[in-house]
Formats: sequence, C-alpha cells, structure tokens
Amino acid sequence: MTTRSIKNILQTEDFGIQLKVQGWVRSFRSNRFIALNDGSVQGNLQLVIDFTQFEESFIRRIAVGAAIEAEGILIASQGSGQTMELQVSKLTILGDCDPSTYPLQPKKHSLEFLRQIAHLRFRTNTFGAIFRIRHTLSFAIHEFFNSRGFYYLHTPIITASDAEGAGEMFQVTTLDLNNIPKNEDGSINFKEDFFERPANLTVSGQLEAELAAMALSKVYTFGPTFRAENSNTPRHLAEFWMIEPEVAFADIHDNMNLAEDLLKYVIQKVMTDCSDDLKFLNDRELEDEKQKPLAERNELSLLERLRFCVENNFERISYTEAIDILKNSNPNKKGKFQFPVEKWGTDLQSEHERYLVEKHFKKPVILSDYPKEIKAFYMRQNEDGKTVAAMDILFPGIGEIVGGSQREERLDKLESRMIEMHIPTEEMHWYLDTRKYGSCPHAGFGLGFERLVLFVTGMTNIRDVIPFPRFPGNAEF
Ligand code: 4AD
Ligand code: MG
Repeated sequence: MTTRSIKNILQTEDFGIQLKVQGWVRSFRSNRFIALNDGSVQGNLQLVIDFTQFEESFIRRIAVGAAIEAEGILIASQGSGQTMELQVSKLTILGDCDPSTYPLQPKKHSLEFLRQIAHLRFRTNTFGAIFRIRHTLSFAIHEFFNSRGFYYLHTPIITASDAEGAGEMFQVTTLDLNNIPKNEDGSINFKEDFFERPANLTVSGQLEAELAAMALSKVYTFGPTFRAENSNTPRHLAEFWMIEPEVAFADIHDNMNLAEDLLKYVIQKVMTDCSDDLKFLNDRELEDEKQKPLAERNELSLLERLRFCVENNFERISYTEAIDILKNSNPNKKGKFQFPVEKWGTDLQSEHERYLVEKHFKKPVILSDYPKEIKAFYMRQNEDGKTVAAMDILFPGIGEIVGGSQREERLDKLESRMIEMHIPTEEMHWYLDTRKYGSCPHAGFGLGFERLVLFVTGMTNIRDVIPFPRFPGNAEF
C-alpha cells in the first residue's frame, strides 16, 4: 500500500480506497477523532478510530504532537467541518510525545512565545503557512528569471570586498583570537590568516554579478547575505536572503520594469498556488486586528493588499519630488515625524517611506534619482552632478523592499567617485576591469527576500518569516 500525503488525499477525494498516511497528531477528541497533519497542506485529515479495538494504555499514547502511521478506508464524512475521513483499521505510534512537557497545545500561542521555541514552531498552522508560502515564492522567483533567459549565478559567501561600502561586515578568520599574530608596527598580520588577507561574509553578490553580466548579459543571484548592522527592528536581520538580478544593456527604467514585473509575478503565483494558506493568514490577521485601535488597523485585508499590488501600476517619482511631498505633509508640519524633513539631501527614514506609500499614494512607490551622498559608489552619476540613477521600491507596511540602480559604466567617473568615497581602487582592480574592457550600460537591484515574505504573509516581524532568525544577541538553534 502506498503512503499518500494529506495534500494528495484531500485533493483527490478517492472515496472507498484503502490507504496509508503518516503525520503528527494535532488534536484528539472523544477518544475517537484524530486531526492529523503532515505539513503538506494547511488542512488536517480526520482519522476515526474505534477505541474498543485498542488497549487503554495505547489510546493514552495518542497525544498531541505524537508521530503516527495509520491505514484505513477513505470515506465521505458524516460530520461537519470536513468532507472526508479515514476509517482506521491499523494504527502505529512512530514517536511518542510527552504531554506533560510538550509546549504546543491545540490553541493559539503568541508569536513571541513561538519565537522562543523556533525549533517547534513549524508545527503550528501559522508557521506551516508561512514556510509553504516562502517555498512557493522562492520557486516562483527562479521560474520568473528562467523564463526570461536569466542565468542563476552563485556568488561567493566569503569575500574580501565590501560591496555596499558601509562597513557592516562580519569578519571571517581562523586566527587564534587569544593570540593574534602582529606585525612589527603592532597591526594584525593577516598573512597568517586563512586567506592571507582580511575576509568577511558578503553583504551583497552584486559586484560579482556585474562581472558575470558583462558576459552572460542577464544573470541573477539568490543567496544569503550578512550584515553586522546593529538594527534591532522588525525589518532587519543579520542574515537574510537576497535576489540580485544584473542586466547588461539595461538602464534604470528597464530596471524598474523588471522589478515591478518580478514582484507582480511572484505575488500572483502565491495567490494562485497558496490560496488556502493565504486565506488562513488573512483570517488570522482580521482576528488580530479586532484587538487593535481603529487607527492602527489595515485599511485593506491581506488578500486585498496583494490583489491591489498585482493590479495597479507602482507610482514612480523622484527623490526630489518625494522630499517636496514630505516637507509639505501634515505629519511634517505638525511635528509628528521623529525625523523632521527639512532639506533636500537627507536620507529617508522608514516613517517617511511609509507615509508616501500608505498615506499619500496608497500604493507601492518606486523612488529614483537620490542624492549621491546617501547612495553607494557604484551608482551611475546623473547629468545634474548631484544625483545618481538609484531606484528603491517602497511597499506598504514594509518600507524599502528593493534597492537598485543603473551602474556607473564610465571608468573615469567610477574611479573618481571611489576615490572620493575612500573605496580602495587597487584592491578592486577586478571590478574596474569590466569598465576597461568592453564596458556597457547595465543595471540591477536587490530584493530582500524576507521583506517580500513579510509583505505576502502579512506578518509584522521579519523574525517570523525565516526559519531561524539571526539578529543582535541571538543565534540560538
Ligand atoms: O538596498 P540594499 O543594501 O542594496 C544592495 O545590497 C545592492 N547591492 C543590491 C543590488 O543593487 N544588487 O539591499 C537590498 C534589499 C533592501 O531593499 C532590503 O529589502 C533588503 O535587501 N535588506 C534587508 N533585509 C533584511 N535585513 C536587512 N538587514 C536588510 N538590509 C537590506
Ligand atoms: Mg537600500
């Protein structure tokens, strides 16, 4: 007899068939009804047992969380709440679960509590839904790029460069920290380190992706990135996944179109393929919102937000236009912003991004042409001498979800900007070579994967959309 997943059983409705299932007990009531879940779908399969067939000591072992295997006949259910049930003829307990210490019960646990037991939280409806959606999103991302002729590129995780020039890197070393080899002048002798030079975990695969795009034309990376920024916020992780396409012969407008198409494609894909999980998260949010004051509630439900995002064009405006809107906005005039917007040139804070998206335009916004002082060295300098061809995409409830730009392809301009920004040009000879040998206009962006999962699931803390979050002071599990 073949074992079938609960997803397969619920879909096919093969009544009258003898089959075998395995999973974990979600609830057990009246010594008769087991709700079984195997993680393949949101739904449970109802197992019906005839308790007179089993010893009492065996029945007691059918506890919430126990792993079991059951064989029986699938029949249409008489009861309400499910369309089918398995009439069990054989039941085996594969792994007991001690109810006196098992932390999960068939009731709603707080997300804070579940974060402390991240090794077990997969077993809840909420986290099952989140991680199935996370899977669907990553698969859809590969599908999108593959169908458009992009090549998936694996960029290094250990690098010697700081792609963003922000100095937020985790160092990688095999030196004995209790006995660090020193040069005569007292500096650290990195010649004795593993790579014979300082090395760190990558903050972005962009620079390497640019090298590949200069030959393969269209590439993308999808890998982990690491940032040692001390931001204890619901939107920052120290280890997160990023998708970074890089396209030769493309400008900033092509870049915006690509990013908007990608976001719409993957969101639509989840709406089509994960409707049960989305509906569960949608209802969960509606339930939660009832506890909140009216002003803090979402104007649209999760499903409405996703649909809105897929069906409407993103608003495209320049940084300069955004500053004007913010300067004249009510919260700015009334001193409601924690960081008041006064002059052109200041970096936007997440409160400003969210005002633009959630209050002013009420739709995703693509902001472009930022002051060069607040952006990375590699962005293409605009004719005005003040701004660069940067583009960020801002999403409701999230703020920045995408950061990208057209790249500076002119060697002289790139070199002088690097010198101005104290980026070591000799060490980056390999990057500059692409501008010496067959340089061409090109552009790319980085999509923060967890911020995307956050938006699509409607969760509010980024620590809840990655299996094992890394943030300051936390690397348990
Ligand atoms: O804007 P960022 O820093 O851009 C880059 O790294 C470029 N090299 C990308 C490129 O052009 N190829 O980061 C890109 C995105 C952000 O928009 C955000 O969604 C996400 O990565 N991100 C983070 N997500 C979670 N935790 C953090 N600490 C993040 N920092 C950035
Ligand atoms: Mg950014």
